[in-house]
Amino acid sequence: MSQLFSQYRIGRLALKNRIVIAPMCQYSAVDGAAGDWHRMHLGHLAVSGAGLLILEATAVAPEGRISNRDLGLWSDETEHALRQVVTSVRTFSDIPLAIQLGHAGRKASAQLPWEGGRRLPVSEGGWQVLAPSAVAYGPDEDAPLALDAAGLEQIRADFAAAARRAARLGFAAVELHGAHGYLLHQFLSPLSNHREDAYGGSLENRMRFPLEVMAEVRAAFPAERPVGIRISATDWVAGGWDLEQSLEFARRLRTLGCDFIHVSSGGLSPEQQIVLGSGYQLPFAERIRRETGMTTIGVGLITEPEEAEAAVAQGRADLVALGRAMLYDPRWPWHAAARLGASVEAPPQYWRCQPRGLKDLFKA
Ligand SMILES: Cc1cc2nc3c(=O)[nH]c(=O)nc-3n(C[C@H](O)[C@H](O)[C@H](O)COP(=O)(O)O)c2cc1C
Repeated sequence: MSQLFSQYRIGRLALKNRIVIAPMCQYSAVDGAAGDWHRMHLGHLAVSGAGLLILEATAVAPEGRISNRDLGLWSDETEHALRQVVTSVRTFSDIPLAIQLGHAGRKASAQLPWEGGRRLPVSEGGWQVLAPSAVAYGPDEDAPLALDAAGLEQIRADFAAAARRAARLGFAAVELHGAHGYLLHQFLSPLSNHREDAYGGSLENRMRFPLEVMAEVRAAFPAERPVGIRISATDWVAGGWDLEQSLEFARRLRTLGCDFIHVSSGGLSPEQQIVLGSGYQLPFAERIRRETGMTTIGVGLITEPEEAEAAVAQGRADLVALGRAMLYDPRWPWHAAARLGASVEAPPQYWRCQPRGLKDLFKA
């Protein structure tokens, strides 16, 4: 029997299988508001048969957006727009929806990826970016503004407010974006955090702000619904954030009631030397899972059903997230179920497409 298609529970959230759709920025919002692109995009992912759909990085404040087209959840307007999309998606699918809440910090104020993705200075229509320290990501970029105590307080409050909005929208779970060199990761890594106060220096100090944000969000989101975090397990740069620090961070997150950890890597420094390959981030997930006992999502270049099946069956991850493979083939879970001899939920309108020779591929 397929392990990938076995049920799983994150706390009280029941998932029908172990396939997670990774959060993927669409850069298609207007002033943070979701619209028809999201209705279409999420609509087809929602009938994919995956166990959990995580919405893209959603900014908790306008200045925390990577680009000016990022999705946001900082106002009644952005909440209202997302409610309309979620309501449409819900008409046709009961897939559990999670939302990734984030702040881009020094990686904010960028062009759209398909327009070059360059950081935009204020003189070119960008905005002043915020960070733990006045250290830019790239050599040609303007230095960010180092956050002061009031700035930190504001961002904690922004995360909590967005979590309350996510709760009102009925999201089944929240994932904090603590990966890929965005604000929370910038606090963790000694390469981007040069602070000399209680938020910088020692590992304890560098973890402080992300842990505070986790505590605030956990308190703001209903206790029976999971809150987790995505991390970069390593910067892939000597002297940066690494797996040993991630393990300690995971242990500390756990004591705060963090329900799951989603293990990615990189994105903090242009100096990174990533060793890419099929399932290349799974060794990090595996160690975190084994050493902390936390529910762990593995991700990164997992493209074949057999690879995903093996990751779960071998205990390397509890859940497997797919990003690009789901964009390429939003019916990936259907094809995986067919290959692994499992069943998958699909809308009855599509049942007649079941390939000849297969029985019971689809269920209601
Ligand atoms: C179009 C696109 C947008 C992405 N946006 C996000 C995002 O919003 N948040 C995030 O944590 N990762 C984001 N990622 C990274 C993916 O979630 C995933 O970790 C990465 O693509 C590796 O998994 P894959 O090999 O299955 O694609 C994005 C990736 C792609 C391709």
